[in-house]
Parts: sequence; structure tokens; C-alpha cells
Amino acid sequence: MQLQTSATQNAESNQERRRHVFDLDDFSRAEIEEVLDTTESMKEILSREIKQVPTLRGKTIVNMFFEESTRTRISFELAARSLSAGVINFSGRGTSVEKGESLVDTVRTLQSLGADVLVIRHSQSGTPYLVAQHFQGSVINAGDGCHAHPTQALLDLFTIREKLGHIDQLKVVIIGDILHSRVARSNLWGLTKMGARVTLCAPPTLFGAARFWQAAWPTINISYNLDEALDGADVIMALRLQKERQQAGLLPSLREYSRFFALTDERLDYARDHALVMHPGPMNEGVEIMPEVALSSHSVISDQVANGVAVRMALLYLFTT
Ligand code: CP
Repeated sequence: MQLQTSATQNAESNQERRRHVFDLDDFSRAEIEEVLDTTESMKEILSREIKQVPTLRGKTIVNMFFEESTRTRISFELAARSLSAGVINFSGRGTSVEKGESLVDTVRTLQSLGADVLVIRHSQSGTPYLVAQHFQGSVINAGDGCHAHPTQALLDLFTIREKLGHIDQLKVVIIGDILHSRVARSNLWGLTKMGARVTLCAPPTLFGAARFWQAAWPTINISYNLDEALDGADVIMALRLQKERQQAGLLPSLREYSRFFALTDERLDYARDHALVMHPGPMNEGVEIMPEVALSSHSVISDQVANGVAVRMALLYLFTT
């Protein structure tokens, strides 16, 4: 099996290999390209009749998911199995966490039991950084609070590049619950580093302070009008409206939100003919995206899910071997 790309070899000669994946803020463009190139090799493995290589034989990966997940948890499990690693799923339920064991003690315990990689999802922003301080192996962030979801952003970047051939100079419109979205934050790092022109579109209450976004990412545009934002879009990314985080009265009603910000067939006409429709999932169909749009020829939502396995294989291969 030839997994080493020239990008990999260059990165190895130029810089020390990273051990953790916390977010894309500290990834260089070359490093992102290396992940995307390696993902192509992983897709080739997944297209074989026997979708397994021995690369991580003998390694143990623990999936620590303290928040619900379908796509991320299962794709990490499939990725680890395709690389022949052992996988343990840990949700906290049925473990000593329920008796009050702290996260740090849990991590130390997993270290003593021989874990090599911790993949962690947690409702508290910053948890992966804390975990890494108490673990000698690799830590991969599978989503922490509203902060970051780097593996989702990487699979989004891969899907865009796979479908449109490049990312540089594309107009990407991210719509919806920006305020609570770790997917939006990680995509902002990834897309801007790869040269995309990003517009964020939401009601003012779902931005928080718009000044913050432009201070952090000075090249982006902010819009409160979806029809205008979609004009000439190459990629449209609808975000899940996080109903569980809406207690602060940020929206008058879901019906009003949908009227002005749902992605409908009619609104797709403002975008370019080749425009991709993306959604990280899970979707609230009828709220942020209409079912016919999610199933339209523009939609690459199922490709995003499928590419999630190959991207996570690439990350496990590059940063934990
Ligand atoms: N996109 C995403 O993180 O989905 P899950 O919550 O199902 O993992």
C-alpha cells in the first residue's frame, strides 16, 4: 500500500508532525492540503472489496462521546477499523463517570489501560485541550461545545474540492445558527486558509456581535438577507438550528426564521448553476432546509457523510502513527 503522498513527505521534512487535532486555527494551508490528498488515498482503500489495511494494527482508539452523535462517532469507528485499530466506545454511561469519577481521572485510567488515541466530543468548549494535558497519546476533537469541529470542516473542504476541483476564490455562503455553530467556526478557519470568499448569513440575534466575526476573520462578509447573500454562490452551507440552545429567546418563532432563512428551491435560483448544497447534519427539514432541496441534484449531503470516513482515516494515519 502506497499511502505517502509527496505532500506528506514534504511536511515530514519541513516540520515536526502534529500529535493532536484540536481545530483548524493552527493548520497551515499545506497541512490542510496534505489531509485532503491523503483522504483521496483513503477513499481508494474504501473502494476496494476488502476495505482494510494493517496500518494501525496494535493501536487502540477510544471514542469518548459525552454528547450524542451518529455521523462522527460511527465514521471514526469505521475509519479505525479500516486501518485495523482496536476501537472502544465510551459514552460515560455505565462507567465510573456515573460514580463521580472526574474527566481527568478517566483519561488517566484510559492511559493506564493502553489507549493510544482519544477521540473526544464534549459539550464544554476546550475539553480536548484539557484532555491532552493528561494524556500521552493523540487527542482528536470530535466537537467541543460551540467552539470547534475540525473533522467536519475537513470533510466539508474535501467534498467541495472533490466536486468543484478547487476551493480558492469560491463564494461560500454559510447560513443560520452561526452563534452556536462549531461547524461554522472550524469551516471559517479552513475555508479562509484555502482562499474561499465566505459570507455568513443569519438574523442579527444569531451572530451575537457581528464585529467579533470580522475581527477574527477580516476577509469575510456578513449578511442579514439570504436572497442577496446567495447571489453568485458556488457553495451553500446550511447549519442546523440548534433548538436545544435557543432558550434565550433569540428567535420570535421557528416559522418566522424559516420564512426568511430557510433554503428553498426558489432561493437556490440566486446561486450559480453548479452550486453545491451542504449540511453537516442532523437536519431540521422544513426549518433551515426544505426536504426537496436536501434531495435535489445540488445536494452533496450524503457525499459529506461518506467522505467523513476517509477524512478520519487520513487524520488517524497522519497524526497518530
Ligand atoms: N455533523 C455531525 O457532527 O453529526 P453528528 O452529531 O451526527 O456526529
